[in-house]
Amino acid sequence: MKNDSPILSVKDLKTWFPIRRGILARTVGYVRAVDGVSLDIDRGRTLGLVGESGCGKTTLGRTLIGLEPIRSGTVCFEGKDLAALDRAEVRRLRKRMQIIFQDPLSSLNPRMNVLDIVTEGLAAFQMLKKSRREHAEELMADVGLDKDAIHSYPHEFSGGQRQRISIARAVSLKPDFIVCDEPVSSLDVSVQAQVMNLLMDLKERYGLSYLFISHDLSVVSNISDQVAVMYLGKIMEFGDVEAVIGRPLHPYTRALVAAVPIPGIHRDRRRILHGETPSPADPPSGCPFHTRCPEVMPVCARIEPDMIRCSGRQVRCHLYSPDS
Ligand SMILES: Nc1ncnc2c1ncn2[C@@H]1O[C@H](COP(=O)(O)OP(=O)(O)OP(=O)(O)O)[C@@H](O)[C@H]1O
Ligand SMILES: [Mg+2]
Repeated sequence: MKNDSPILSVKDLKTWFPIRRGILARTVGYVRAVDGVSLDIDRGRTLGLVGESGCGKTTLGRTLIGLEPIRSGTVCFEGKDLAALDRAEVRRLRKRMQIIFQDPLSSLNPRMNVLDIVTEGLAAFQMLKKSRREHAEELMADVGLDKDAIHSYPHEFSGGQRQRISIARAVSLKPDFIVCDEPVSSLDVSVQAQVMNLLMDLKERYGLSYLFISHDLSVVSNISDQVAVMYLGKIMEFGDVEAVIGRPLHPYTRALVAAVPIPGIHRDRRRILHGETPSPADPPSGCPFHTRCPEVMPVCARIEPDMIRCSGRQVRCHLYSPDS
């Protein structure tokens, strides 16, 4: 496999959740959490995924690593279609793809001590090369925690320390790809930067690739190489961070950029968005953003725009024409 090929390649991916009603639990509709996503994640790079609450970020991240069933479309890891693998191959791949959750307290088993938490995966995959204790001490050093704390339990740590334990667990299996799902959102601002720095150090040290999910555009613009902007299950704009955040084209991206102060980026406050996001169970016709778009045109309600290449990024909007 060439090193410049994407580590993950996603084509027209859909993850829908059935809505069931009545005593027979008949399916009466679907929540279209991920609704036709195509993107590549480059090896050794960070793709930031942004968008308002409920737009499908977590579902996309979970689907990529096999935690949600794919309704249609493909996810290829190093060129291998996940859906075409047998169980042994899936198991092998699973350890190369990890996830770090927003809330470390609920994702760490309160009845396990740190030694057991961070070495559980190594034992399960028969990857212990020395004693569990030695592995645990090494992992603690990797994430900047005191090695004497391996016998403590999650509740004995601060929020930032707990997130470091989750990170130690995630990197213990030497993965290639990690979904970071809002990993610093629940932490104090003062601790956020330290945990972000740790994630970036580990990425360099182990050559990791990240899907970094966040509400916080300033965090994403700081650490991402590329950015995908998601709205109602679809990617509206995708490309290098300098283009997407620095010179946004899509009215939705422009509104997100206008809503937060990002160092070095001009804010046009007139663009700040109003109104509720429509339900992903009943998305609007045409462009899903047309009901809130400040630049809506008659065509937007009728025809869904294709993703096109324009000014050094991909964008899905009738305002633009493809580069020739
Ligand atoms: N297991 C599930 N069953 C049914 N619906 C679900 C399930 N998980 C998510 N959803 C729905 O799918 C949509 C997308 O949810 P998701 O959690 O992926 O959004 P998100 O962008 O991560 O939001 P947030 O920023 O709040 O974390 C939402 O409407 C949510 O209610
Ligand atoms: Mg989420």
